Amino acid sequence: MKEALVIQGLDGKKTLSGSINVNGAKNAVLQAFAMSLLFKDELVLKNVPEIEDVKNMVEIFKSLGVSVVRKSKGVYAIKVLNKISTVLPEEISKKFRASIVLTGPILSRFGSVSFPHPGGCVIGSRPIDIFLNGFESLSAKIKESEKGYTINSDGKLKGTKIFLRIQSVTGLQTLMMAGVLAKGKTIIKNAPLEPETKNLADFMNLCGAKIKGAGTSTIEITGTGPLAAKGKVFNTPPDRIEAGSFLILGAVAAERLEINNCNPGDFESLIETLKYCGVNIEVLKNKVLVTNKKGGVYRSADIKTHEYPGFPTDLQAPMTVFLTQAEGEALIFETIFEGRLNYMSELVRMGADIRLCDPHRAIVRGPTPLRGREVESPDIRAGLAFIIAVIIANGESIIHNVHYIDRGYEKIEERLRSLGLNIKRVEITA
Ligand code: EPU
Repeated sequence: MKEALVIQGLDGKKTLSGSINVNGAKNAVLQAFAMSLLFKDELVLKNVPEIEDVKNMVEIFKSLGVSVVRKSKGVYAIKVLNKISTVLPEEISKKFRASIVLTGPILSRFGSVSFPHPGGCVIGSRPIDIFLNGFESLSAKIKESEKGYTINSDGKLKGTKIFLRIQSVTGLQTLMMAGVLAKGKTIIKNAPLEPETKNLADFMNLCGAKIKGAGTSTIEITGTGPLAAKGKVFNTPPDRIEAGSFLILGAVAAERLEINNCNPGDFESLIETLKYCGVNIEVLKNKVLVTNKKGGVYRSADIKTHEYPGFPTDLQAPMTVFLTQAEGEALIFETIFEGRLNYMSELVRMGADIRLCDPHRAIVRGPTPLRGREVESPDIRAGLAFIIAVIIANGESIIHNVHYIDRGYEKIEERLRSLGLNIKRVEITA
């Protein structure tokens, strides 16, 4: 059954109002599921967002023979039995890139892992050389076949020095988790600094791991045995990308929007950029408030995506929508993924003035009114950007491929409706 979102645009008026809570981070919780495979006792995860990627992760765990019990909303208990399957199921694993993080803990704990070719996706080719080279450096042997890869560790992985050629976020997290059960010391250099990695490392350290330097560019892991939670619960940190997207929504479509349950320090680059553009933002301890009482037009700002704490690639599409409403010309420079400007042609059809220079750069001129349309969500983040665009637009719009949005955002229509938006989910029969 296919579903779509039907949204009545506000025709440029900033009439939404209220408060919205930020959920647990997709890109922290999927990695926390992977981390649970390093534990010898039950690990409980809290503040788990009820999103499609989590459902898919639970399906993979079931197929591996790992016990996952959903105790209540957002609370999952995971218990690894002594023996599990080390083969990642092809169809589900290919549905979401984060499944590859499971390879690190499975290989280091159970001695081997098999997984399918991940393939490319709409945002780019997404190679896995950092993972494979890292495993080889840890003394594992890799066999590639038509179906995918089988990696063996011949007993224990051996700690080593790894320099990340490119700052891969999940590459680092995967190798860091592999290092936890490797023999001796693993030193990873040129590590990206995303807060979700430090959060995982801090929790693993509470449970017996020895990881130094997480949150800096050099991480040192001294191998230990399997970890023990002993009742400690992993609390999923708030999703900084969801929080940032709501902040952008507030700037272009709300009279007043309070974004609760977030860590403003985790998306400072966005806050500072929006402030530069003239958005009125108040930063409080665990919330941000955006108000638009005075009206007026925002000014443009160039955007260059960068690893944390720079401007996140995952906020590039929503920020582009913001820039269609700001006065002046902005250069968008997407440095991380080569396919991540493809959604822009749809914004142009809605009336945006965007000129694509090459796969990585585009120029946005604003402000331009946007026209409501039928659009297809190409991926998670561009999907949310389209929601923001059709909210700004005039008339009714329909967003197809909602399953992409559901992969990363829980019940988005219910949460936006509470701000005064006319939005409904409908089934499409065709
Ligand atoms: N890269 C390689 N070789 C590798 C791995 C990555 O060349 O083996 C390249 C990529 O092609 C890219 C760059 O390195 O050009 C950085 O990619 P990275 O590996 O950091 O991306 P990722 O770990 O696969 C995570 C998030 C993404 C987010 C990026 C960048 C998860 C599950 N995914 O992806 O989130 O965009 O980091 O911050 O944590 C999303 O949530 O929609 C999403 C795409």
